[in-house]
Amino acid sequence: MRLRRLLRWLTLGAIALGLLNWVGFHALTVGALVIAQQRPPDVPYVPTPEEVVREMLRVARVGKEDVVYDLGCGDGRIVITAAKEFGAKRGVGVDIDPERIRESNENARKAGVTDRVRFFQQDLFETDIRDATVVTLYLLPSINIKLRPKLFRELRPGSRVVSHDFDMCDYCEEEGSAKCIRGWHPDRVLRVRGPYREHTVYYWVIPSGVAGTWRWTVSTPRGEREYVLRLSQRFQRVSGSVTTDNQSTPITNAQLVGNQLTFTVTREIRDQKVTMRFEGRVEGDTITGSVEIQGGPFAGKRNWVAKRDKFVLTGTWRWQGGTLRIERRNGDLVATWSEGGKASPIADFYAWGAGIYFRVGDQIYEGVVEGDRITGTINGTQSWSAQRGQ
Ligand SMILES: C[S@@+](CC[C@H](N)C(=O)[O-])C[C@H]1O[C@@H](n2cnc3c(N)ncnc32)[C@H](O)[C@@H]1O
Repeated sequence: MRLRRLLRWLTLGAIALGLLNWVGFHALTVGALVIAQQRPPDVPYVPTPEEVVREMLRVARVGKEDVVYDLGCGDGRIVITAAKEFGAKRGVGVDIDPERIRESNENARKAGVTDRVRFFQQDLFETDIRDATVVTLYLLPSINIKLRPKLFRELRPGSRVVSHDFDMCDYCEEEGSAKCIRGWHPDRVLRVRGPYREHTVYYWVIPSGVAGTWRWTVSTPRGEREYVLRLSQRFQRVSGSVTTDNQSTPITNAQLVGNQLTFTVTREIRDQKVTMRFEGRVEGDTITGSVEIQGGPFAGKRNWVAKRDKFVLTGTWRWQGGTLRIERRNGDLVATWSEGGKASPIADFYAWGAGIYFRVGDQIYEGVVEGDRITGTINGTQSWSAQRGQ
């Protein structure tokens, strides 16, 4: 009898142990899967104070035509305020932390905006932001820089980006845009008093790609005169020259806000100072606008339509220091750098019209494609040129 009871206990014990083992093993597997799906956040959760949220939306002039994305949305306050107080057409918040998404949905319900806002548990680097007109961020400087190529790849010119406290500088003398030496300089910087400290709000507008060679003609009593405008671009900063009658003049006061380009050309014509203020709207390879001419025989206002020379960025570009391969994958330009037979993708690569800009280590290459040649600089000083090859 006793032996039978002992055997029964032993069998039950073995089954229990087996069960525990099975549950333990599967719990570990399931746990590992959950962890794999939710990698840890790149930035901890810290909410933006409400007064800063309003200033971020105000500087971006959010209105009823806007689709606002908050990448790393926390409790959803930015997109909820955009919909409720600024009348945004739609708001999308993404956060990697499911708890934040639960809170966001609950807050949207309380605010009565569930018809216009949506929240997704997602990695912000994997979120498609193509339909955003405004993107808000409260991340970290390194995450902003990592996100920067995606913003340029996916957002349309004229879309606005607003970041709480962190800029997009590659190299700053000290925190704050006034001292940003190299990087994407903000179009505006605001200081906002919060409940405990002063906050900074950075604002940018995604620029059109204007780099390249543009041509137009002007009718004069002596016949058609051709103008050639050569533009280089670094983020929204534009420089270049206008050539006519074999005389080249640097442009000044150049500004590019979204697809609106303005610049000035000042020349001496028959001992008279002539100032031409150009403004135009960039649509693909056409600029349409007007020029106001002060001084000289053609003073007045007239229209101006320029066409960009054809250019092809894709291909293999070679120079003594390396090889750059640019190809189109799923509609996006992707760049690979090779040196000594070793190829590596370039994460920080931008194409602005016929202009390219990319970083390899601490070297920044930028240049403009003309036919089968790229001409530009390394780190803004050393000349650089590459030739299209096989
Ligand atoms: C500083 S909080 C900002 C919250 C909100 N945007 C605000 O301003 O109140 C950053 C948020 O980003 C989220 N986050 C961090 N890394 C992320 C990632 N890779 N993808 C999506 N969300 C992320 C965090 O969970 C956190 O909620």
